Amino acid sequence: MRDNLIEKAKKVLLGNKKKGFTLPTNNKLYPAQWKWDSGFIALGYSHFKLKYALDEITTLLRGQWKDGMIPHILFHDLKTDYYPNHSVWNCGNKIHSSGITQPPVLAIMLKKILDKNKIKISDKLKIKSIVQKLKKYHDWLIKYRDPKNTGLVSILHPWESGYDNSPLWDYSMNEVKVEKNLKYKRGDNKVINPEYRPLDTDYDRYVTIKNHLRKNKYNPKNLYKTSMFNVVDVGFNSIFLRANKDLLELLKIFNLEHKSLQKFILKSENQIEKLYNEKKGVFTNYDIKNKKKIIVPSITNYFILFADLKNQSINKKIIKDLKNHNQNEKYLFSSIKPNYGKFEEKRYWRGPVWINCNWIIYQGLKNKDKKFANKIKEKTINLIKKKGFYEYYSFKTGEAFGASNFSWTASLFLDLVMEKKYN
Ligand code: GLC
Repeated sequence: MRDNLIEKAKKVLLGNKKKGFTLPTNNKLYPAQWKWDSGFIALGYSHFKLKYALDEITTLLRGQWKDGMIPHILFHDLKTDYYPNHSVWNCGNKIHSSGITQPPVLAIMLKKILDKNKIKISDKLKIKSIVQKLKKYHDWLIKYRDPKNTGLVSILHPWESGYDNSPLWDYSMNEVKVEKNLKYKRGDNKVINPEYRPLDTDYDRYVTIKNHLRKNKYNPKNLYKTSMFNVVDVGFNSIFLRANKDLLELLKIFNLEHKSLQKFILKSENQIEKLYNEKKGVFTNYDIKNKKKIIVPSITNYFILFADLKNQSINKKIIKDLKNHNQNEKYLFSSIKPNYGKFEEKRYWRGPVWINCNWIIYQGLKNKDKKFANKIKEKTINLIKKKGFYEYYSFKTGEAFGASNFSWTASLFLDLVMEKKYN
């Protein structure tokens, strides 16, 4: 049964594969290369075809901007109905792209891939060059998204988080004044049941923020101050902290400069702890634009486990809290705590189970609470076994929503079931 599913997972990836990169799914929903999807996809390939894993990352890095930014979407195929397409973004370096980024998972994936694969001498230079480009990207995030040197970086668009319509952004999005006479045509809700997708009111704001970024020529020097959206997110910063720790190891392997990164890691570790509200026992986001603390019981707050904080007392408290995240534990984890007022069972990032979130939390828990970690792993594998390789699922019934043949679900399934081989 498992072997059969392993073959199926590989087929999903190979079915979505184009030349040098892989689509998030094989239908019309996402006809391009997405940044964090590619990271997860590379990890999946590394279990059966290392070349495809490295190709996936190399192609993504071909689209890196001169200043170091890695865009969240690369438009390799210009003839699609996708909105917002390449002409709407109107930017890119070598490859048409979007003008914003996505969670920095690449260094983490590369480190994982190298930890379990013997690298051929002939691949060494290729990998060194990847590491150098990732360093340039991390430097870009630090320089332009944390210009005041606080140790924490901002996102300037909800799309940068990867959890687009999460209630985490509701307050900040309400503060965005929608552009007058806004004209655009969504395609996503023609392909997928609109009940499972973000609302038009969300899209109006996504497009308004994007238009403002474009008017400012995506100039990172000004946008930190002027963007209509500027939030320090716990999830994004947890991923970045983990990625910085992994990048540090990679830089050491190749004898590359790493002093400044080491300093930034220390600062981040201290600062991220300050986002923890002792009284309420929760992590809080900070909306820089509107100077507002934001508390939403999002599963992404637990990405802090993945950052491997040295502070065991915080780790312990939040593991306890995580155990209470969904009352009904049949399917883990709802992206938003089900008793939260704005939870929605089927709507995208407002409640459904996402496999990449489970995977991130599992990785974070492995060295802290093995038993709980294994439970998450088994439940995640079983959900996929039962329902297939979908984009997201109901925490109540396991019902699958969104795209079928979803690449990162297949990839992370492979990583979970094949992990034992290497331990
Ligand atoms: C959606 C998701 C984002 C993902 C992309 C492609 O925009 O919110 O996280 O990267 O689809 O799968």
